[in-house]
Parts: sequence; C-alpha cells; structure tokens
Amino acid sequence: MPESPPNRSDISPLPLPSGDMPVEDFRTAGYRVIDWIADYLEKGPRAPILSKVEPGEVTGRLSETAPPEGSSFDEIFRDFGEIIYPGLTHWNSPRYMAYFPSSASGPAILGELLAAGTSQNAMAWRTSPSGTELELRVMDWLRDLLGLPGEFHGHIVDTASISTMLALAAAREAHRDLQIRTRGAAGRSDLPPLTVYASEEAHSSVDKSVITLGYGQEQLRKIPTDNDYRMISQSLHDAIRKDRDAGFHPLAVVATVGTTSSTSIDPVAEIADICQEYDLWLHVDAAYGGVAAIVPEKRHILDGCDRADSLVVNPHKWLFTPMDCSAFFVRRPEVLKATFSLIPEYLSSERDSEEAVTNLMDYGIQLGRRFRSLKLWMVLRYFGADGMAERLRYHMTLADRLAGIIEDQPGVELMAPVNFATVCFRFHPGSLEGTEEEIEARLEELNSRIMAEANATGEVFLSHTKLKDQYTLRLVFGHLRTTGDDVREVWELLTRLAEKAAG
Ligand SMILES: Cc1ncc(COP(=O)(O)O)c(C=O)c1O
Repeated sequence: MPESPPNRSDISPLPLPSGDMPVEDFRTAGYRVIDWIADYLEKGPRAPILSKVEPGEVTGRLSETAPPEGSSFDEIFRDFGEIIYPGLTHWNSPRYMAYFPSSASGPAILGELLAAGTSQNAMAWRTSPSGTELELRVMDWLRDLLGLPGEFHGHIVDTASISTMLALAAAREAHRDLQIRTRGAAGRSDLPPLTVYASEEAHSSVDKSVITLGYGQEQLRKIPTDNDYRMISQSLHDAIRKDRDAGFHPLAVVATVGTTSSTSIDPVAEIADICQEYDLWLHVDAAYGGVAAIVPEKRHILDGCDRADSLVVNPHKWLFTPMDCSAFFVRRPEVLKATFSLIPEYLSSERDSEEAVTNLMDYGIQLGRRFRSLKLWMVLRYFGADGMAERLRYHMTLADRLAGIIEDQPGVELMAPVNFATVCFRFHPGSLEGTEEEIEARLEELNSRIMAEANATGEVFLSHTKLKDQYTLRLVFGHLRTTGDDVREVWELLTRLAEKAAG
C-alpha cells in the first residue's frame, strides 16, 4: 500500500530530531572548560608564547571537509589540545610583550560566557534592552573615568580601526552641504577633493579609513613629527593653509594619544585650536594610551581631548578585556546618526520607539551587535576605578624602571620617551664602524637577530618597529599577571643574547 501523504496542517507530532547538546553534557563539559581556563590563567601556557607551528600545519591537521557525523565533546576538546592549542600565540601570557598586549581578565572571560549563553543582539533597544542600556551606561562610566565632558555619547564597536572609519564618515556628514550621503563623492565636478590630516606616526587604520570611504590615500596628509614623534602643529597648520589655497577642502584631523610605534602623544590642545580655526573634525585615536587617563596623575595625557569631536580607546588593548571591545565616543551623536541611520520596513517598529530609546544600530554600519558591554561592565565592577588605576600604574612603573635600567646600562639606548607602559630601545655596541648607513644596517641586523632569538626561546614575545628609519625593539607591559621578575628575567635574557650577538 502506498504511504498516506503527511498531514501538513498538523505540526505537533513532529519530533525534535536531535536538538542541542543535552544540558547535563553541557554542564559537565562547561566545568571542564572553566577548569582548563583557570589552570591556563594560573600556570600560564605550556607552550612557546609565540606559536612555533609552520604555515599550513594547523590546516593540514584539520579534515578537508566538514564532518558528516557529530563528535563527542571529549573528542573535540582533545583535538583542541592537540591541533588548535599548538597554533595559539599566547596573548594571555604575562610574557606577551609584543605590539600592544590584550589581557583577558577573569571577570571579562565570564562576561563573554554569559553574553554567548544569552545570545543577545543589541542592535535595537527592544532586541536587548539590557544590552543597549548597559552599553550606554558603561560608556558613560568610562567617559567620566577618562575625564571627558558629559556631552560625549559612547558606544562599543569591534576595533579602533572601525571607530576611526566611523569618525571620518561622520566628519563628512558634519558638512551636510557636501551631500555625501545622498550623492556620494565620486565624479562630482562641484566637490573639491576632501583632505584628512594625521601624523606620519599615525596608525595604518587611518589610511584604511580614507581608502574605504573614498577620500583616497592621496588626500591623506602625513604631517611630520618632532624628535619625540609628536605631530608638529605648525606643519599641520601650514598643510591646511596650503591645501585651502590650492582649492582642496580640508575636512578632518586624526590626532594620536599613544602612537603605535613609540606611544608618543600629539599636542591635542594645539591641534584643537587649528581644527576650530578651520572648522575641521578632530578625531583622537587614543586606542592604546587613552585608558591611562583612568590613573588620576595621568589625566593630563588627554589634555585638549575635551575639545575633540570624537575619540576612541580600546579596552581590548589595555583594560583587561579580551578581543573585541573598542569604545568610540562622539561629541555630537546626532551627526553620527545622520550619517548612518537608515531603517528598513522590517525594522520600522524601531523607528516608532526612536523618541523614547536609543537604537544602537543607528550609530554605525552594522546591524547585529554583540553584547560586548557585559564583559566591560564586569571588568569595571570587579576591579573598580581604583583597582584599574592601580593595575595600570603598576605597568607604567615597570616600564619606568626598565627605562631606568636601560639608561644606566652601556651598549643599549632608549629610543623614545616612555609615556605609558611601552619601552622602545635598541642594543648599540659602541664599537661599530662605517658610514651612518652601514652602522644602521648593522644595528638592524643585530637587533632583529636578538629579537628572533629571544622569541625562539618561547619565553617571551616582543616585536619591533622603525622610528625615523631606525630599527627599534619594543617591550610592552599590559598583562595583569606580568611581574617585576618577568621584566627582570626578560631583560637578562635580552642582555645575554645581545652580548652573544655582539661577541
Ligand atoms: C594607535 C592605534 N590605533 C589603532 C589601532 C588599531 O586597533 P584595532 O586593532 O582595534 O583596529 C592600533 C593597533 O595597535 C593602534 O596602536
């Protein structure tokens, strides 16, 4: 007999095929994962800090196709240990001192877990009232801790790169008469090229923003810096004048508090004067250094930022919050909203609620938004303002002490002022002979070898940069568990390697 066709109007007898992981299994696996993380935090990684896998090694150990059948959590967790773990570079290690560290604290890790567990999407108020209101409140807390004026609106995005891009998009909307939102910027004979200014030490995200937004890289003016790598405000002034005289339309300046290479601090107050004179948008990239203003005696690092139009600080760099969490503040949120707000029909109920609530989807490109404020709230609640200041201060003291050691030690030189917790230096045996160029090449070779050998020990991970074309090593202290002993041992290792290399 042929089977009778299913009754399509009856839904209740449909059995759930498999559903989620059984809750009891989740509980058991969850305890194991938490135990694993607790051990990792307590003992540090059982592996080199800079992963030693070869390119393609991890891929080679992963099956080429997605598994047709599911696996037990035991098997998956075993593979995490055997396949994934060796390819991890341990950002959450006290000896991670490269780039700018990202220290994931206990409360922040738990915040991430709860955010994932409740699967929030803070795109609009009603899709997550707590996600929205917590974010706004936590940003207000952070704004106040940084000493920024009360009119700044803050919200969280993934990275400082995106914050800067949002700022440079809003800078155009601040001049509504340009009609960029509706008419775009391409092929318009009525629109002069719009120019943006940043120091030659500014982060590459400024370049990426002008590329993405269609300003074009040629319209990004790189302003020279002084001997301490700070933007020369007179040169900024001259460049703006020159552009205006040539028929360009100067639009925005990006000043940096804590540049990537040397952590220099641009003279923001002077730059703000210039922006005011020429009606330019002032965005401050304080991605790394800004959080230091939480420390009362370091408040001055943000001098002049009260006059900025926008500012970014990254809790995922130096505020004990794992990737990703970038705090973007803007003085005139209505300009940001005018830049990005666009509500399709299926979200039109959000439009109705606009008067009463903030819908964070209106302040940027993305619709779906992670519940990032939860981890930041947990960090701020757990450590408190004083606790955070104490921890940041400790990192800066470590850097200051190391700078003191370097100043007293022959054969090594400090390459930049220590403004935060980053020390720039290079080994320089006095005995080198040759032209200036030859000596520079020799120093690059020597210092890059020292760095490579130090990183190869697996005991530390440090990185390099170039300052005014001079090869420079950097050590950055930002991990919650980095101690004076760590710094001393790393320094002894580097000194030993330098003696051997010069030897
Ligand atoms: C000064 C500065 N700005 C921006 C960035 C980019 O940060 P993100 O990775 O959050 O985009 C960095 C990265 O190190 C930085 O040092």
